[in-house]
Amino acid sequence: MSSTSSATRVLLGVAGGIAAYKSAELVRRLRDGGAEVRVVMTESARQFVGEATFQALSGHPVRTSLWDAQAEAAMGHIELARWADHLLIAPATADLIARLAAGVADDLLTTLVLASKAPLWLAPAMNQQMWAHPATAENVARLRGRGVRLLGPADGEQACGDIGPGRMLEPAVIARAVLDGAGAGDELSPLTGMPILISAGPTYEDIDPVRYVGNRSSGRMGYAIAEVAAQAGAEVTLVSGPVALSAPFGVRRINVRSALEMQAAVDTELEGKAAFISAAAVADFRPAVVAGSKIKKGDASLSIELVRNPDILAELSERAERPFLLGFAAETDDVEQHARGKLARKRLDMIAANRVGVDGCGFESAENAMTVYWNGGEADIALADKRDVARQLLILMLARMAEAAKPGDAA
Ligand code: C5P
Repeated sequence: MSSTSSATRVLLGVAGGIAAYKSAELVRRLRDGGAEVRVVMTESARQFVGEATFQALSGHPVRTSLWDAQAEAAMGHIELARWADHLLIAPATADLIARLAAGVADDLLTTLVLASKAPLWLAPAMNQQMWAHPATAENVARLRGRGVRLLGPADGEQACGDIGPGRMLEPAVIARAVLDGAGAGDELSPLTGMPILISAGPTYEDIDPVRYVGNRSSGRMGYAIAEVAAQAGAEVTLVSGPVALSAPFGVRRINVRSALEMQAAVDTELEGKAAFISAAAVADFRPAVVAGSKIKKGDASLSIELVRNPDILAELSERAERPFLLGFAAETDDVEQHARGKLARKRLDMIAANRVGVDGCGFESAENAMTVYWNGGEADIALADKRDVARQLLILMLARMAEAAKPGDAA
């Protein structure tokens, strides 16, 4: 990093889209989060917002052209590129994305991108048809392949009246993503471009058309892992049981309901993945038969026969070609003994165990604490926000993956 002070240095590029007005607030949010911000605008961005706004908010002169002799004398564009710890372009228009994908350097902003080694974050904003166009999709895929981190776009009502994906994410969300990503530093950088599969949430096992057997998993832990991994540049596929959460930005989500559906989705998606993180609370049993119509409460009691569901994780681990397998264990007692038992029985590479039934921890809470076990080691992750816990867990996973990849280590 090029910083001499501890503040994260963010070079914010503003391209020419109506969402440029939101970038003024983004500067505020980044600075509130402790970042130092310098702004570069494209020519067309200046049609939407005045330089003075960004100058006042960032506390620095705004750069707009390669050919500004006075500005170059103060801080040359190469120096500016080196200054940045992070490059963030918000809004990133379809045109700018195309120029970046092609490696064009025909204005100050695109030149800075080529001249900088700093991680590049893009917050796309454009009409939904433009976002859906195959040309844009190809450009985005190329950029992703180079490790560029995509933030959004969000789905919803657009300035042009259309409804669909293409809205720029809210400034607070963008700022948090970049600052959290910056905080993660190099420890999560091996995730860039890594394809990983994550399962999350409960499964619902239908009894009849209106009733099911379920559990109290909120999905928050799996979703936090998906979000943190995607922000660090991983290509995340999330197989999710029914939860009340929206898909984290940049994550491909596949919705399932039952354990059997989850198993089928995991089977299909597993190929080519470097790791499978099984955070889902899969129901161990399902009703032997699903009644075709609503069961009536005629009798004083009702028995429902349950049959075993497959153990998705244990079955996977028997494959010759298997990714790194990280399982979870929610225990009420003898945590280590039960977790280590599962680690061995399910032939996992790592297991993250937490005690459920204690206040402030586990299934339905925003915080979690866990102990992570692997063959020959363990590590505690103290009670913290699930995103912090996710970050620490991913760091441990990457360390184990690196260990396993060392030549001569057959374990
Ligand atoms: O055996 P237990 O349910 O405690 O194991 C937990 C781990 O196994 C979790 O990672 C969970 O996602 C996975 N699992 C599974 N299929 C099941 C039950 C659990 O993949 N039927």
